[in-house]
Amino acid sequence: MGTRAVYPGSFDPLTNGHLDLIERSLRMFDELIVAVVTNPAKTALFSDAERVEMIREATRDLRRVEILVFEGLLVDFVRSVGARAIIRGLRAVSDFEYEFQMALMNRKLREEIETVFLMPHEAYSYISSRLIKEVAGYGGAVTGLVPPGVEKRLLEKLARR
Ligand code: PNS
Repeated sequence: MGTRAVYPGSFDPLTNGHLDLIERSLRMFDELIVAVVTNPAKTALFSDAERVEMIREATRDLRRVEILVFEGLLVDFVRSVGARAIIRGLRAVSDFEYEFQMALMNRKLREEIETVFLMPHEAYSYISSRLIKEVAGYGGAVTGLVPPGVEKRLLEKLARR
């Protein structure tokens, strides 16, 4: 059996920074499960299905990637799919505190699961889904910061508002 990792997140929406991390993870692990946290409170801009679809489109040419939705504790999901590693991205020092807390809490819950931090390419270090939504919401261009399919859906979604 090969090595399998889980890359969890909200992905609301997927950015080129996320995509960069997916590609980097595939250099280290045989299989990657991109795990989209479900949104029961409906606070996300995109539905679970839309977020999955955008990731599927953007990773169409990448073999060894599977996209699943999860709810509940991340460590339980990771265990249920037979993985031992969680991938998280660190863009800047400001990410560190929150990530450090989550990694240690997850370790407390399941000691055998390791969190692996990867740095996205520096060209993407300032990109976040939150800023992408804000900029696109005010009509700013996000070309080159998100995959083309995501840009298209952002424009469609925001035009409907
Ligand atoms: O992309 P995000 O929003 O930074 O991802 C956060 C995510 C989904 C990884 C985190 O909220 C999570 O793991 N949620 C599942 C519930 C859980 O396990 N919480 C305890 C984390 S220590």
